[in-house]
Amino acid sequence: MDAGVRDYRTGSLKGLKAVVEESDYDRLFPKERYIGKEWLQKEYDLLWPRVWQWVCREEEIPNVGDFYEYRIGDQSFLIVREKNDKLNVFYNTCMHRGTRLVEGAHEFGGPGTFNGNKAQFDGKITCVFHGWAYDLDGELCHLPGAKDFAKGMVKREEVCLRKALIDTWEGFVFINMDMDAEPLLDYLHPAPDNLKDYNIGGMRIQRHYTTVLPCNWKYAIDQFQEGYHVWATHVMDLNNVGAVSTGPGGRRVGEKKDGNSYPPPDKVGAMTVYEQFDLHTNFWEPHWQLTTGLPPRVKLGDLSDEDYPTPREWARKAIETMVVQNRVAQYELDHFDGLEDLPLDMLGPDFMLKLRHEACAARGIDLSHLENQQMFGFPSEHRLFPNMLGPVAGNSYGLFRARPNGDDPDSMIWDIYFLFNYGDGEVPPIHYEFIPDWKDYPDDRMPPSFMQDFKTTPLFQQGMHSKGFPGHRYCSQEQNVIHTQKLLDQIIGME
Ligand code: FES
Ligand SMILES: [Fe+2]
Repeated sequence: MDAGVRDYRTGSLKGLKAVVEESDYDRLFPKERYIGKEWLQKEYDLLWPRVWQWVCREEEIPNVGDFYEYRIGDQSFLIVREKNDKLNVFYNTCMHRGTRLVEGAHEFGGPGTFNGNKAQFDGKITCVFHGWAYDLDGELCHLPGAKDFAKGMVKREEVCLRKALIDTWEGFVFINMDMDAEPLLDYLHPAPDNLKDYNIGGMRIQRHYTTVLPCNWKYAIDQFQEGYHVWATHVMDLNNVGAVSTGPGGRRVGEKKDGNSYPPPDKVGAMTVYEQFDLHTNFWEPHWQLTTGLPPRVKLGDLSDEDYPTPREWARKAIETMVVQNRVAQYELDHFDGLEDLPLDMLGPDFMLKLRHEACAARGIDLSHLENQQMFGFPSEHRLFPNMLGPVAGNSYGLFRARPNGDDPDSMIWDIYFLFNYGDGEVPPIHYEFIPDWKDYPDDRMPPSFMQDFKTTPLFQQGMHSKGFPGHRYCSQEQNVIHTQKLLDQIIGME
């Protein structure tokens, strides 16, 4: 620990912050934190119990009596909607003999409801072992054989469900096991201010995928807060998953030069902007025209190639690709299909802006207050420490959550959420899906760029175990990763 820096291995994390310094580029960061079982255990002991963790969205538990089970390591929590729209969070364990009370509907947790339970247990939190039951506020309301317990062992205040802290921001529900933690909005600062223009609270989850990746959970967080890998993993597609970056709908479309030469690394990753705050980071693309899926300087009427010979076919393919990537809503594609004439003289990116504004306005979604820069692609990708991040733009939010998987530092649980704005009465039911092996997943349903990232995960993880690998060295395009590492230095230690 540097002299003068508070040791955050005890107490609350209030005041914790990291600043990236020049000397950090001269340092090797230890690989043990990605592969060591001891380090993983320290994370369970020192990190996860003291941070605000995003657990679910409010729309996943809309009714009184609904719950969401959230797991982190061997801890399970019940987020419960009580009357008057109050949310509670309880440790998911019966106060009699510790039985886990309920499980969510999906792999690794998920939503569920206490409504419809049998007889007197309807709407109650019930233990299947001996039938203790709790009200939605956690109070014990049914104690079978009460007179057989010693009086002092079943005092009301001692047998109610144990609580953690709970709060919400823009429809996201967060919990914290540290009862001394700072308030959620203080913890999230400055993200709530930075993201206030986007109607995040009004967005709704369209899809929630969960998969298991053969790597440490921090790898996934690192991957999504640096642009340095984009050139090799995505533009060049060096792992042969199937490049999309330079075709219709791709992020670098129009950037391909001289037939086979692509922009050099410093033109891709270095074009993005990296920002660090006390606890969180941001990562964004300042050239909005590059993120609309159409070439930045080409008129709509000039879009054509061998596969998509007319402007309508070419543009449609681009929009369709972006629907799969969660960068465009299905209703925007439908709106495009309903257009009789295309403004062929308009530059592609300008057309995409117009399409988005019009498709949303037709559903009562007003995006007119947003700058062009805020409408597409990656105007903001905040990483909310420690494990939540993703790009928000215009009317979409693609979100990821990374969690360790049990006691294996080489495995992680990866949640992918796609959110959109919807018109009244048009909100679709949430599609939940567990993907046991992403390699078998149809690539027209998952962005190929995700597959490209996933494919490097075992290589990265296995390679770090090599006795020939001394530790990580980072460049300025990876400064947000350094920021995360420096927070961990203070919470867990430098090794
Ligand atoms: S362990 Fe829950 S009622 Fe016995
Ligand atoms: Fe990537």
